[in-house]
Amino acid sequence: MFTRRVAVVGTGYVGLTTGACLASLGHQVVCGDIDAAKVERLRRGVVDIVEPGLAELVTEQVSAGRLSFVVGASSAVTDFPDELDAEIVFLCLPTPMGVGGVADLRAVEAVVEETRHLLAAGTVVVNKSTVPVGTAARTAELLDRADVSVVSNPEFLREGSAVHDFLNPDRIVVGCDAAEAAERVAALYARLGAPTVLTDAASAELMKYAANCFLAMKLSYVNAMAELCERVGADISDVTEGIGYDRRIGQAFLSPGPGWGGSCLPKDTHALLQVADAADFEFRLLRATIDTNTRQRQRIVDKVRHAVTGRRAGSLTRVRLGLLGLTFKAGTDDLRDSPALAIAALLRQAGAELVAYDPALVADPNNPDKTVPGMVDGMIDGVPLVSDPVEAAQGAEALVVLTEWPQFRQLDWSAMAGVMKQPTVIDTRNLLDPATLRRAGLTGIGLGRREAA
Ligand code: UDX
Repeated sequence: MFTRRVAVVGTGYVGLTTGACLASLGHQVVCGDIDAAKVERLRRGVVDIVEPGLAELVTEQVSAGRLSFVVGASSAVTDFPDELDAEIVFLCLPTPMGVGGVADLRAVEAVVEETRHLLAAGTVVVNKSTVPVGTAARTAELLDRADVSVVSNPEFLREGSAVHDFLNPDRIVVGCDAAEAAERVAALYARLGAPTVLTDAASAELMKYAANCFLAMKLSYVNAMAELCERVGADISDVTEGIGYDRRIGQAFLSPGPGWGGSCLPKDTHALLQVADAADFEFRLLRATIDTNTRQRQRIVDKVRHAVTGRRAGSLTRVRLGLLGLTFKAGTDDLRDSPALAIAALLRQAGAELVAYDPALVADPNNPDKTVPGMVDGMIDGVPLVSDPVEAAQGAEALVVLTEWPQFRQLDWSAMAGVMKQPTVIDTRNLLDPATLRRAGLTGIGLGRREAA
């Protein structure tokens, strides 16, 4: 098997997954990060993010001698065990949404500046982060090295299943204006046997946005359809099941919810809108996708208001509510752009008193290294966090399920009902079985369901 020396700069969930998975495919990988404390933890096999299988894979590959961690980008491209330099350098850096939705490329620019003189002739620099169309061209300009190629190889990893997604990809996309460099990057993944799209850099960069914005559009469509279902007395689960059998639509990504969030979809929809604006194209469909999502949060607040007070304009002042789930989806401890937090902020503005429980946001006494992300003085964004769901239910006038943690289905709902002030559950994920709630003496209100208020 053909192995390459691969440097990965940035050990966030994309970088770490990429590094560990490429090592597991047999490549020699060095991962660099500017955070020395994190590098030290990674060397000990401590992974800060919740990502199934990742910590095990890191430990396994470090022991096998194929994966190592260093401080800084310069060391990552030069510090290979055999004292040779990297042949392929992956940039897995944050590209946060800056002012007006423009992706902030300072991290990429700084690393390029730092490493440009260190790269051996023939090195291929790969951009894995989601970046604006034209970034590969801009990176090549900054590198100013005719003997180094820049390739766009977007990741399509979902948080919570990143390792699985990396090793079982629907497709590999490699974009470069130099075909030979694209083929070298594609060859890294040869063992995975996935369909590979070789294209130019701009098309690869756009493909990532095209995919994520399509997914966001699908969800906004489903959330709007759920609202329509409530108004006409239809049921969204039956509707989505029915349309999902159409192979052109598919069953996946059709669950209504409190709105889409996370580190990708909000950032990418805004960034594509910027790309369109800059190209003088009015992308109305995309704007409506974003607006529908923003409106969804208010719609959930209105639903809570109606459920608790019986009136559409009832007051939530000093109404105690228990929130179940704060992360942007189940299977992660990531709070970035979480719709749950946006809804919590709106509920607080409306005067409600909140208490939240999230299974991923509970301190682990056996692992003091691992802190609860985003927690300040026992609160996240001003919302007190408790470590037991029954505590969140205590004295609550309603419970609001905001994240689709499967373990919520197994809660002792009778015990929950027993400590609540009013037996109401607003299930924004249609996660819980209404009959189970009914048996526990609770009224469950979902989205787009026939029984919905
Ligand atoms: C997404 C893309 O799926 C992935 O390909 C890309 O590389 C990064 O962005 P991720 O942000 O990890 O991945 O989460 P994903 O599972 O796609 O969910 C995004 C949001 O949509 C979450 O807030 C989730 O709760 C919501 N969602 C998803 C729904 O509301 N309903 C669904 O049916 C699916």
